[in-house]
Amino acid sequence: MSQETDEIKAKSDIIELIGGYIKLIPAGANHRALCPFHNEKTPSMMISQSKQIWKCFGCGEGGDIFDFVMKIENVEFPEALKILAGKAGVTLKHSSQTQEKKDTRLYDVCDLVSRYWHQVYLSSSQAESVRKYLADRGLSPEIIEDFRIGYSIDSWDDSSKFLTKKKFNDQLIFLAGMTVKKDKGFGFYDRFRGRIMFPIIDLSGRVVGFGGRTMKSDDTAKYINSPQTPIYNKSVVLYGLYQAKEAIKENDLCILVEGYMDVIPSHQAGVKNVVAISGTALTIGQIKILKRYTSNIALALDMDSAGRQAAERSIEIALGQEMNVRMIDLPSGKDPGECIANNPDQWRQAIGAGRPIMKYYFERVQEKHDINNPEDKKVIAKYLLEKIHLLGSPVEQDYWLKELSNKLSVSETVLRELIAKIINKQDVKYSRENTTITKVDSQVSHYKDDYDKEKVLFSRLLAALYNYPENLGKLIDTLRLEYLHNSFIFALYKELILFYTKNTDLISKIDVDKSKESSSDSDFDLLDLLKSWFDRKELVAEIDFLNQSYLLGQNDFGDLTSREIRSEIDDIVRTLKENYLTSTINNLKTELEQAEKSGDNKLVEKIYSQLNDLILQKN
Ligand code: CTP
Ligand code: MN
Repeated sequence: MSQETDEIKAKSDIIELIGGYIKLIPAGANHRALCPFHNEKTPSMMISQSKQIWKCFGCGEGGDIFDFVMKIENVEFPEALKILAGKAGVTLKHSSQTQEKKDTRLYDVCDLVSRYWHQVYLSSSQAESVRKYLADRGLSPEIIEDFRIGYSIDSWDDSSKFLTKKKFNDQLIFLAGMTVKKDKGFGFYDRFRGRIMFPIIDLSGRVVGFGGRTMKSDDTAKYINSPQTPIYNKSVVLYGLYQAKEAIKENDLCILVEGYMDVIPSHQAGVKNVVAISGTALTIGQIKILKRYTSNIALALDMDSAGRQAAERSIEIALGQEMNVRMIDLPSGKDPGECIANNPDQWRQAIGAGRPIMKYYFERVQEKHDINNPEDKKVIAKYLLEKIHLLGSPVEQDYWLKELSNKLSVSETVLRELIAKIINKQDVKYSRENTTITKVDSQVSHYKDDYDKEKVLFSRLLAALYNYPENLGKLIDTLRLEYLHNSFIFALYKELILFYTKNTDLISKIDVDKSKESSSDSDFDLLDLLKSWFDRKELVAEIDFLNQSYLLGQNDFGDLTSREIRSEIDDIVRTLKENYLTSTINNLKTELEQAEKSGDNKLVEKIYSQLNDLILQKN
C-alpha cells in the first residue's frame, strides 16, 4: 500500500464510514449490519473496528474501507481513493494528471513485456518444450499470436533486465507487478520465472496484468498471477472479455469458464462469447460490467476443484443481480479445454443443450432423492426452496414455487411458509451450517469435494487460532502438510509453518503474557503478525483469506472458552486427517486392483501393507 492509502486508512474509521451508509448494530467488540450487497432480512455482515475490515457471511463480499466504497459507490479504486481522501481530510499529492502519466508508464511496462515474452516464446531455444507443449494441446500459431501467449525465462532477473533496458525504473517495474521485493536486503526479483504467460487485457484493449502457468508438474503454484495494481483491478477485469464482447452481444449470451486454457481453445473452436472467472467467484462488479452486453450467462466450470464452490457463489451473486443463469454439462473432459481437445463439436453441442439453472437444480436433486418418498420430499423441498430464494425476480420465484408445489404435491401455502423459515435460519447461520454439513458427510465425501471443504475447515482453524493463538504450536505438531489437497491451502499452511518456525520465541511468550479477558486488545495479535508476514511475500489472496477467517472467528467463536476452542481445533484436524486417509486408501485400492490385474505380486504385497498401515491409523 502506498503512503497515501496508509494515511487515509489511519485517519478514517470503518464504523463511521459504513455507518454513514447503512445502519449498524453493535455486537460485542464488533458491529453487524444488513448487507447492502445482497438481499437479506437478518444481518450477516460483520464489521471489526479494531481491524478496520468488514465481511458479509451471506454473499461473501468483504475487505477494507476502499473495497467498501468501491462496491457501494460502484467506482474504481482511484475514485474511491478520492472519496476517502476527502472524508479523511488528506490531500492527494499526485494530482490526477501525474497519476495518469504514471498509469501510462505502467501500461507501457505491461505491453512491452508481453511482446517480449511472446518473442521469447516464438524464438528462444529455452522455450522449445513450451512450443511443443502448446502444440500438443492443440493451440494453433494464429491463436497463440491473437492471445499473445508468451514465455518467461526461468531466471531471477531476465524480465526485469529487459524492462530496465527499456528505461523503466525498479519502482515502476515493481508497481506493475512484474517483480517481488526481496525478503532480506534490498532489491527485487522477477515474479514470473519459467512460466507460460497469458496477458490479461482490460476493456480498452490494454495489457494490465498476467497469469503465468508453470511448466513443472510438481510446482505448488500451478498459476501465479499479477497482483492488484493501479491499472489492474481484479474485481472488475474478466479474462477474455475484450476479445469476447462483440460475440457476447451478438449471441446475447456470455459463457463463463474457469481459466485461460478454456477461453483460448474455445475461441479457436469458433465459440467466442467466453470469458474466464479465473478460479474465483464472480464479483458484483464483474456482473455489472457483463450486464452492459447481456443479461444471460451460462456456466461451464470445472466441477473437480474449488471450482464448485466458486460456481455456487457465482450463481448466487448472478441470480441476485437478476441475471438469467444456465448450466452447461460437459459430455467429456474435466473442463471445456479438455472437452474441446477431445472434440470441438461436442463443446458446441453442450452449449446448445445448456439448462436453465433452476431446471438443473430440480434435476440434480432428483438424481439423489426420490420425489415420491415423503422423507426425501422434505430434503428436496429444503434444497430447492433455498435456491428459489436466491432468485432476484419475484415473478420467477413465483413460477418455480408453483413448479415445486406441483412436483411434490405440496400446497404452495405450505411451501411459502417453509421458505420464510429457511430464509431466517439461513441468514443467521450461514457460515456455521456450511461447516456442519461438511463434517456430517465427510466420511462419504469424494476426493474432489475435499478441496472446497478444506478451505472451509482451514478457515475455521484460523478463526479458532486468532482467539487462542497459543494453540498454534500444537496445531503444527498435529496437522501434517500432506493432509491438505487444496493447493491454495497447502501453500498457505506451508507459510504458516515457516512463520511459526521463525517466530517460535514470540509465540511461546504469549502463553505466559496473555490474559484471555482482554483478548481483543492483547499485545499479541496473530492476525496482524500473519498479515505482515504474508504482505512481505505479496500473497494478496492469502491475506484476504486471513481477514475473512478473522471475522468468521468473531462471528462463530467469539464466546467460546479456551477448552472449547481446543476441541474445535482437534475436531478439524481429525476431519482433515480422516479425509486424507480415506482418499489415500481409496487411491491405493484402485492401485491394488490394477496391480492385481497385471499380476505384479511384489507390488500387490507392497500396496497391501501400505493399506493395512493406513487402515490401522484410520481406526
Ligand atoms: N488459477 C489460479 N491459481 C491457481 C490455479 C488456478 O489463478 N493456483 C486460475 C487460473 O486463472 C486458471 C483457472 O484458475 O486458468 C483454472 O484453473 P485450472 O483448471 O487448474 O487450470 P486450466 O486453465 O484448466 O489449465 P490447464 O488446462 O493447463 O490445467
Ligand atoms: Mn481447468
